[in-house]
Amino acid sequence: MNRTTTLVSTKQSLRRHRAALEGTVAVVMTMGALHDGHLSLVERARQVADHVILTDFVNPLQFGPGEDFEAYPRDLDADLDQVEGLVDLVFAPDTREMYPAWPPTVSVSAGRAGTVLEGAARPGHFDGVVTVVTKLLLLTSPDLAVFGRKDAQQLAIIERLVADLDLPVRIEKVDIQREPSGLARSSRNAYLSATGRDQALALRHTLDEVERAAPSAGAVLATLRSAQERREVEWDYALAVDPITLEPIESSHRGETLVVLAAHVEGTRLLDAAEIRLSTP
Ligand code: PAF
Repeated sequence: MNRTTTLVSTKQSLRRHRAALEGTVAVVMTMGALHDGHLSLVERARQVADHVILTDFVNPLQFGPGEDFEAYPRDLDADLDQVEGLVDLVFAPDTREMYPAWPPTVSVSAGRAGTVLEGAARPGHFDGVVTVVTKLLLLTSPDLAVFGRKDAQQLAIIERLVADLDLPVRIEKVDIQREPSGLARSSRNAYLSATGRDQALALRHTLDEVERAAPSAGAVLATLRSAQERREVEWDYALAVDPITLEPIESSHRGETLVVLAAHVEGTRLLDAAEIRLSTP
């Protein structure tokens, strides 16, 4: 079904248009620079709800000093072209509209889970993410919010946000989109040479090995250790973590487990992840 897409840039206008939507609403939150990964989130949103709101906002609160906030790609017209007819509303506010008082006095904390893995290198990043996600949930009042499994830590933290603060929204998770080779789709793959792309498959192969080693916790941990020892890529981390605390698991761990990988290939940082279930030593 094709819809008429309306662009709104103020909170007031968003609330007015949101109130006029009848039936269920799904939100897809983005920082713009839309690519196929975002479109797969939009596609899922269209399947699970009557209406779709896409937010397009580069959130300064999740960038640290010296990070690429100023240089982050912004092309609203190109974004609109991609989702025209696919979503009902595009909410694209400017920074002053989102944060009339800068910096905000009150913000949301991602807790310790926001300080490990990706958060270790980017202090405050996940606090900035959960603060803007909370604001966008309050502004769009969706029934569902659609997020990708690729940003596994972000997704895990947003699930805690919703559970811990009793936010009335269901999180809909979309599987990692992969190239035919198995490489997780990412706009950064464009930086890789043909050799780099082959090398990068070490991440997917490690996840395959992990999936074969499950449900044995010991075998999964041994697989991750040996992958790091093989040094096919420059590993940042290759860990099995508790899906709630994001702390590395011990071999005594049972139940849902998140496997998170981060590595550099030809200077490009790549992420991949998988959810597994452990039930034996
Ligand atoms: O994943 C992103 O693009 C951002 O972190 C999000 C969720 C839109 C918040 O700014």
